[in-house]
Amino acid sequence: MKIINTVSELRKAVDAFVQNHRTIGLVPTMGALHEGHKSLVERARRENDVVVVSVFLNPTQFNNQDDLRTYPRTATADAALLESCGVDVAFMPTVDEIYPEPDTRVFDLGPVTQVMEGAYRPGHFNGVCQIVSKLFDFVKPTRAYFGEKDFQQIAVIRAMVAQLGFDLDIVTCPCIREDDGLAKSSRNVRLTPLVRKIAPNIYGTLKRSLDFAQDHSLQQTHDWVVDTINAFPEMDVEYFSICDGTTLQPLENWDDSDDVVGCITVYCGDVREIDNIRYKG
Ligand code: PAF
Repeated sequence: MKIINTVSELRKAVDAFVQNHRTIGLVPTMGALHEGHKSLVERARRENDVVVVSVFLNPTQFNNQDDLRTYPRTATADAALLESCGVDVAFMPTVDEIYPEPDTRVFDLGPVTQVMEGAYRPGHFNGVCQIVSKLFDFVKPTRAYFGEKDFQQIAVIRAMVAQLGFDLDIVTCPCIREDDGLAKSSRNVRLTPLVRKIAPNIYGTLKRSLDFAQDHSLQQTHDWVVDTINAFPEMDVEYFSICDGTTLQPLENWDDSDDVVGCITVYCGDVREIDNIRYKG
């Protein structure tokens, strides 16, 4: 595996892959890699001639500087994991390498970016689009891989790809969970032992809500999920939206769409966890 730190070296490597007609799979990450990332890398490995993984903690997508400051950084372990997965190129640039000038681009991708994370984390998706569009430009991937834990991020990236006309396939992979159901996340290491024990109740409640939804309205199901999770003193639901799985706009009734997903954000102590569940589709 080649570790590349500069854009010019990355472009050179990519030019050689393209000249040799190699398909390129890109897995963008922010490091602190876990089994969820590994599943993306393994899928990319199966489906492409060449696998490029970027490890870059992108500052422009953090609206909360404390979150950026406390985000785990494990570059050495990340490189070892990628090497063991048979990755060809690990792209590990500095912030100055990616942003030699401030990125002033503003993306307007419509309603899909305005709800949920878009509403609660102003500027977050703009920063995601800044880095992902740069990576797509540098790496020219045939396919790019994203995890379904960040459900809205996938919709935003699809909208960006459509608007800017990138010629690539977005491949989505299921959320990987701990044995107790907690979605794997780089931020999980920041949970205190007590909160770590309680946090699986997020997904536990979402799963139980599938049954509850059978004989309750959408609004009743929404309220039951929020109340059940908030009953744990250590947890605080920031939002729960039962929405259309494509437009991500909130729904009022189960019959309003054939594609229904519930997206939730919960503060577990001071760690913000996100998760989702599909009701229909
Ligand atoms: O999902 C993430 O880890 C990040 O948002 C991404 C796509 C790597 C962009 O920094």
